[in-house]
Amino acid sequence: MSIVNHQVRLAARPVGMPRRSDWTFTTSPLPEPGDGEVVVKVLFLSLDPAMRGWMNEGKSYIPPVGLGEVMRAGGVGRVIASRAPGIVVGDCVTGLLGIQEYAVAKGRDVVKVDPKLAPLPSYLGVLGMTGMTAYFGLLDVGAPKASETVVVSAAAGAVGSVVGQIARIKGCRAIGIAGAADKCAHVVDELGFDAAVDYKSQDVRKALRAHCPKGIDIYFDNVGGDILDACLANLARRARVVICGAISQYNSTTAVKGPSNYLSLLVNRARMEGFVVFDYADRYAQAAREMAGWMAQGKLKSREDIVAGLDTFPETLLKLFKGENLGKLVLKVADE
Ligand SMILES: NC(=O)c1ccc[n+]([C@@H]2O[C@H](COP(=O)([O-])OP(=O)(O)OC[C@H]3O[C@@H](n4cnc5c(N)ncnc54)[C@H](OP(=O)(O)O)[C@@H]3O)[C@@H](O)[C@H]2O)c1
Repeated sequence: MSIVNHQVRLAARPVGMPRRSDWTFTTSPLPEPGDGEVVVKVLFLSLDPAMRGWMNEGKSYIPPVGLGEVMRAGGVGRVIASRAPGIVVGDCVTGLLGIQEYAVAKGRDVVKVDPKLAPLPSYLGVLGMTGMTAYFGLLDVGAPKASETVVVSAAAGAVGSVVGQIARIKGCRAIGIAGAADKCAHVVDELGFDAAVDYKSQDVRKALRAHCPKGIDIYFDNVGGDILDACLANLARRARVVICGAISQYNSTTAVKGPSNYLSLLVNRARMEGFVVFDYADRYAQAAREMAGWMAQGKLKSREDIVAGLDTFPETLLKLFKGENLGKLVLKVADE
């Protein structure tokens, strides 16, 4: 193969919002696959708020991306060469492919997907990591019961939009919090949430009190900060606060803003629990089957926000932090 691979590497650890100068664009010849390896032509890449954390030095649930390394990213692509058992040229696979045009991966580190069952980008959204996050975070950590009230922040995003829809499937009331009137309209009118609060134009604490007269049974937190505090102020007895993420804090150059209303946990005999989706990897296939079933029945909608061009990566990633995405943010690298 005489293919040149274009790659995006981490050049500097950002302070605050990542800048274009934090990345380098490099080219390198694509190697032949070794024994047990595949070469994948990357088609779509998943852009995730967690990438901001992976750019920082320090201990986390996964090691940071090293300076000079290709930026880590989940993706879906087509196999163009294989020396791995059970995988042939033409197969579509997902895995940690990285921000690049081609990825060399171990066959055991990628998973085959069927483009006839669902469009490829949905394997990065509802049927991918963010869908799994919504599924296990809500059902395993939140443990909803019918008629309970579930509140979710970043409700129009990849994880939040699925949390609210699964809450409805389980017979709960779903209230979304999002940062724009059109996002609020989308989650109610298109996704079937019961109500939504625009945190940029409304008093969240007051609006939640009105929408949740018996209190919040489950708060699925994607954002942290002031919105977490507003939700803590409105908990029902025995509420569960699911700590999924805290995007409002990821680019902060000062200490993370913790909740000041935490004694609401005591008063309401409530609990707050964090989780990492990767811990559920052995159950992804079963969850994806159930979610695909809900999609086929029209109960669960998948929406991807697709931006084309590897070279747009530095700016496209920032859409997550500026609230410019509706649904799962995906970078299209090449035509199928
Ligand atoms: N625990 C896990 O295993 C796990 C796995 C995957 C994702 N996550 C977390 O889940 C959360 C959602 O991820 P996602 O991939 O679904 O992203 P997303 O919701 O599709 O996109 C991020 C959204 O966050 C909102 N946002 C950005 N800055 C904000 C701020 N300062 N205050 C409030 N909202 C803000 C924006 O929506 P608005 O326009 O509404 O502000 C933006 O569209 C993130 O915190 C992520 O780290 C956790």
